[in-house]
Amino acid sequence: MKLLVVGGGGREHAIIKKLKENKNVEEIFALPGNGGIAMDAVCVNISATNIPEIVEFAVNNNIDYAVVAPDDPLVLGCVDALEEKGIPCFGPKANAAIIEGSKVFSKNLMKKYGIPTAQYEVFSDMKKALDYLETAPIPTVIKADGLALGKGVIIAMTREEAKQAVIEMMQDKKFGKSGDNIVIEEFLTGPEVSVLSFTDGKTVVPMISSMDHKRAGNNDTGLNTGGMGTVAPNPYYTKEIADECMKKIFLPTVNAMNAEGRTFKGCLYFGLMLTEKGPKVIEYNCRFGDPETQVVLPLLESDLLTVMQATTNGTLAECDVTFSEKNACCVIMASKGYPESYDKGFEMIIPQSISDNVYVAGAKIENGKLLTNGGRVLGATAIADTLQDAIDSAYSMVEEITFENAYYRNDIGAKALKAGKE
Ligand code: AMP
Ligand code: GLY
Repeated sequence: MKLLVVGGGGREHAIIKKLKENKNVEEIFALPGNGGIAMDAVCVNISATNIPEIVEFAVNNNIDYAVVAPDDPLVLGCVDALEEKGIPCFGPKANAAIIEGSKVFSKNLMKKYGIPTAQYEVFSDMKKALDYLETAPIPTVIKADGLALGKGVIIAMTREEAKQAVIEMMQDKKFGKSGDNIVIEEFLTGPEVSVLSFTDGKTVVPMISSMDHKRAGNNDTGLNTGGMGTVAPNPYYTKEIADECMKKIFLPTVNAMNAEGRTFKGCLYFGLMLTEKGPKVIEYNCRFGDPETQVVLPLLESDLLTVMQATTNGTLAECDVTFSEKNACCVIMASKGYPESYDKGFEMIIPQSISDNVYVAGAKIENGKLLTNGGRVLGATAIADTLQDAIDSAYSMVEEITFENAYYRNDIGAKALKAGKE
């Protein structure tokens, strides 16, 4: 089979490495991929959002199955366009990807179908939003409606900060049209859990839970990033909580999307907060998380392509989806300065002995050398019987990888270790 994977980060590298385990896979094309992914797939320089060119490439190259991994092409209708040409895909159509593409949509969906989430108000008028903030409970959370590269959420600790965020989104258009509408919601507290799930619109199969580390600095300090590391499973996510989430969140969400005529097929990501009043949805993503995928897929024992195809074909209920009982830890190595400004173009040395466990996020090849080419550069994932061993082993890999200006957090997994001992 000839496969196509749309995207070019560490998540896509993890998906590609896993897909390659299937003996029927002859060739994988990554659009656009990156210099590290090029070790495992044929990278083609077509942007992940250039849907006409993606479709043309898929048709011309007789692609048998396509995986659309990032949010923007999904929201833009990449799956719809490929399927129109008869190419089966993993991922939701645009009318279902809206569950991530519009926070106003997802909040209204949860309210309509009684799915637990933070209380909220929607505003399209800045003055009304500012008036509301005069008396709103503080801290509060301001969210731009549309996609904003993961930066459209502001936790405001004071009324002034909240007003500032509203002005930046609605008047200064910091996130362009994504800020035309905003959500102002209740500030929740509790441990966060990421649960990625496979769904064919009927059955929901949650993958192993994970914990992201979003802040740039140790002890969850500094700016929000795309994610500086992950562990799986997440020790806060007990069997009882998992059962409750299936009953109150996962199945109701899939059923709600069906009732709205927006059947969701693909990977539905539940960003949850375990509050004192039970688990609540912080966000939905219409895709695999990054860097959650880099710990979740290495623990998948079943064949990924088979599971993905069952998701597409509506036969997930009959498909075996098994995860290892081990622990995984992924430490992200970034460029110093990320998520703000940073330099690129430094040579990367990844020893051959560990390259199977490295997922490259931002790199290019120049004159035969692998050079850094992004904020997040790579993730090193280790699997072990215990979380402590997985953490130690991920960090020893990180020490073997070198590039100038490398930066990483030293405490990935520390919170999970503590939770496990409580
Ligand atoms: P999101 O981009 O929606 O994942 O939000 C980014 C982060 O903001 C989440 O991972 C949470 O840590 C935090 N967050 C979002 N919504 C809330 C909320 N209602 N209460 C507290 N924290 C939140
Ligand atoms: N790691 C969070 C996300 O992929 O949105």
